[in-house]
Amino acid sequence: MVHAVKSDNELYRALRGKTCEELWREARALDALAEPERSRRAAVVRAVGVAFADRGDEAGKARARDWLRGLLRDPSEKIRRYAAAALPKLGDDRGAEGALLGRLPEAASESERRALREALGKVGGRATLDAGADVADAGRLLARAAREEQPGAVATEALLPAGIDVAFRCRRGLEAILAEELAERLPEVRVLARSPGRVLARADGRLRLADLLRPRVAAAFALVLGEVRARTAAAAVQPVALRVAGPVGSAVLRSATSGAARFRIEAPDELGDPAFLRGVAEAVRALAPDLLNDPRGAPWSLDLLPIVGGVRLELRPRFSPDPRFAYRRGDVPAASHPPLAAAMARLAGRRDGEVVWDPFCGSGQELVERGLLGGAALLVGGDLDPEAIAVARANLEAAGLAGVRSRLMVADFREHAKVPELTAGTVGLVVTNPPMGRRVPVKDLKGLIAGLFAAAAEVLAPGGRLVLANPVRVGPADDRLSPAGSTEVDLGGFTCRLERWDRR
Ligand SMILES: C[S@@+](CC[C@H](N)C(=O)[O-])C[C@H]1O[C@@H](n2cnc3c(N)ncnc32)[C@H](O)[C@@H]1O
Repeated sequence: MVHAVKSDNELYRALRGKTCEELWREARALDALAEPERSRRAAVVRAVGVAFADRGDEAGKARARDWLRGLLRDPSEKIRRYAAAALPKLGDDRGAEGALLGRLPEAASESERRALREALGKVGGRATLDAGADVADAGRLLARAAREEQPGAVATEALLPAGIDVAFRCRRGLEAILAEELAERLPEVRVLARSPGRVLARADGRLRLADLLRPRVAAAFALVLGEVRARTAAAAVQPVALRVAGPVGSAVLRSATSGAARFRIEAPDELGDPAFLRGVAEAVRALAPDLLNDPRGAPWSLDLLPIVGGVRLELRPRFSPDPRFAYRRGDVPAASHPPLAAAMARLAGRRDGEVVWDPFCGSGQELVERGLLGGAALLVGGDLDPEAIAVARANLEAAGLAGVRSRLMVADFREHAKVPELTAGTVGLVVTNPPMGRRVPVKDLKGLIAGLFAAAAEVLAPGGRLVLANPVRVGPADDRLSPAGSTEVDLGGFTCRLERWDRR
């Protein structure tokens, strides 16, 4: 095969669009070449690493890995270096680590040693640490080893330091509902301040982390470690690290994590300068070597939030799945954000013995959240989509709403007159998050919402309530429903009004 002599990058660019099969043929062709042509075609090694990592199936990746491991002993130093750089992209970190460590003592030059160490920095763990390989950013290796040996999770039963401040985060517009929920469900905290998307509260006594999971309207909560003001990012590194490794930060990370105390730094772009973030991670490690910065699967997030002239630090436990919404056995494409469903249930409030109807019930979250408030006698859900009804059924069952009956049906909401449980003038609450026309286009959204108002006015008993997320400026056609409150809520990129209407 005659190849034009091209620079590495040109050749790489020409190769990178090829399929894995084509590149595998290039790899075999490279095997058959001798020097100097062999080194000139080294970009094939790079392209194989990138292409198989990107688009290779498991068998292809395994084949590419074996090939690259073999190339770590290639007569061409350039090919050895390229193979070392490509190996970490292809998974099987421990296998790659073993091969790279095996080659390290035999490296023929400083540049080969550097390539091996850099690759070990990406995949190395305990074996690299034990081998004493001089790898930059040893913190990453420690974190990786800890993740593999004792991945750890948030320990919800842990007691938190007394007097800690907790930032409850919510969708913008839900602050008042959240503050009211805190007063009811978490009387152990005092609300200090409210700002868009955030309610700041202080625990007067000692709380367990699990207590902070009682409020359901919060999207997340975080423990406040304080604020740092500095003129430059470099000047902020040490004070930030001191907060993380200080008495509150280290107590939380150590006591409220089972396994290794790992955290991931999260910062918006304006604070996300890699040198600053690396500096913080290294400074924390120097102060408290057991607190490990780890971007992958860490139980905690260290949130760096911009404030005027500085940064606010918050430690946020990461739950997956969120234990508050463990009833969710399944999902539908347009499912509500669970805390929004909880907020809608709270906006509706509870009346004992009432019938509740969600005409667009999807996976049934509004019904579950209303059921969890207590007092409902019957939950009725309808949806056009049979799969959604199956999911709603599973969710309602998993929610374990003792003593609450439910009736779920595949139906158009306009057919309510056919449903005995929805006899005109008998329903206590209609609560619903109707189609928004965003992901699934709706031909006549205004007509649909007008139809919802008409149906609610029909089925509701006097004094009954309609609570909906209203995506359009449409209200009831007559005065049977009167407005009883509304708030603009950010639904992630667009706003919509949460409205409550009361049946006269
Ligand atoms: C925004 S989703 C509801 C999501 C639900 N709250 C949840 O959390 O899963 C709207 C639902 O309305 C249903 N739908 C659309 N048009 C309908 C109609 N005319 N009658 C009944 N359901 C309808 C869709 O199938 C969809 O599941």
